[in-house]
Amino acid sequence: MSRTRIHNLAISLDGFATGEPQSLEAPFGHAGHRLHAWMMATRYWSPTGSTGVDDVFAQQFGPGIGAEIMGANKFGPPGWQDDADWKGWWGPNPPFHTPTFVLTHHARPPLEMEGGTTFHFLEASPAEALEVAREAAGGQDVRIGGGPTMARDFLAAGLVDHLHVVQVPIVLGRGVRLWDGLEALEEGYDVEAVSSPTGVTHLTFTRKAAS
Ligand SMILES: NC(=O)c1ccc[n+]([C@@H]2O[C@H](COP(=O)([O-])OP(=O)(O)OC[C@H]3O[C@@H](n4cnc5c(N)ncnc54)[C@H](OP(=O)(O)O)[C@@H]3O)[C@@H](O)[C@H]2O)c1
Repeated sequence: MSRTRIHNLAISLDGFATGEPQSLEAPFGHAGHRLHAWMMATRYWSPTGSTGVDDVFAQQFGPGIGAEIMGANKFGPPGWQDDADWKGWWGPNPPFHTPTFVLTHHARPPLEMEGGTTFHFLEASPAEALEVAREAAGGQDVRIGGGPTMARDFLAAGLVDHLHVVQVPIVLGRGVRLWDGLEALEEGYDVEAVSSPTGVTHLTFTRKAAS
């Protein structure tokens, strides 16, 4: 059965998945690259990267995924909606390689990129968006790509089967939080934690089997 998965979602110790303000020059605001330094050091990211615990988790991002849904603020900096030429941060060949649905209140025609990624722009509830993405995924899983606002909405709606959060030992103090409003989320999941020698902790939330 097609599952809904979140991978490599990095948060600070105080729960922020991005800093502020987000801009073209600083996509993660004052967080800079600190939330993802663990991932950039892995083989998943670079041919000379590490192959330890962090790499094992990072590599789970792609296999079995047939579509992604992301939020408007992941797709571009504030104001991208006014730039008809904006095609995302990732260049001509984005790392998604599947249909990718951008949730936005400013829809535009689909954008076909190299390597199998087509961006579709969609205004829909999380449940409706998931239905569309599932159809496009052809029986494979759907990845919820973040940022934190839309990830939180999908979690709150009970739509996520597997969540991989990476807790990075930094305190950001401000930004956009992941956990707000998700009180007792853990009750619906089997939770595991793995500490990496690099200092990050990988937390997985896997939906409990129905009893
Ligand atoms: N830490 C990580 O691992 C990670 C992962 C991914 C992204 N990020 C970062 O997180 C930041 C973005 O996160 P964010 O929380 O600010 O925003 P986000 O979740 O990417 O996007 C939220 C926006 O998406 C649109 N949207 C959301 N739900 C919608 C719906 N149901 N229908 C229509 N539009 C909808 C709205 O934008 P409009 O109303 O403007 O259309 C909303 O303001 C970026 O800095 C990104 O780089 C971090």
